[in-house]
Amino acid sequence: MERTFIMLKPDAIQRGLMSDILKRIESKGYKLLAMKFLRIPREQAERHYAEHKGKPFFEGLIEYMTSGPVLMMVWEGENIIASMRTMMGKTNPNEAAPGTIRGDYAQQTGRNIIHGSDSPESAKREIELFFNDYEIQSWEPSVSKWLC
Ligand code: TYD
Ligand code: MG
Repeated sequence: MERTFIMLKPDAIQRGLMSDILKRIESKGYKLLAMKFLRIPREQAERHYAEHKGKPFFEGLIEYMTSGPVLMMVWEGENIIASMRTMMGKTNPNEAAPGTIRGDYAQQTGRNIIHGSDSPESAKREIELFFNDYEIQSWEPSVSKWLC
């Protein structure tokens, strides 16, 4: 089982897309391990996107990411890192296929509504940047336990 770090960016929250996006992830069968709703401090946003420091879009990206609260999560599932990248679609929403999250809900690269880790190394780094161990839940889903 693999874990990934997923973040709904400020525009996803403000446009009321949270439930639609969560529904896709939950319906796929992935398991939620952690969730936080907060405004990211600038320094943490810069660390999260450290690989892009110095690029022309970096300042705008940090402004965007710190402009309002985000929903950050850890999800678990088989091959979830690559599969979530597929479900999200390409970075540029105009190149993202219909049926993907970015393809269906976004128009601009700089306003592409969702982040997902791109490799096991990034997932580990990003989860550790935003979550403590005690904030990551270990639990077993059960329907029958509650209904019978
Ligand atoms: P990147 O890591 O390349 O994409 P992804 O989010 O798919 O992993 O870039 C990080 C974010 O930076 C991207 O989601 C949106 C922003 N960005 C721009 O604003 N302009 C750009 O030209 C690029 C490449 C990214
Ligand atoms: Mg990236």
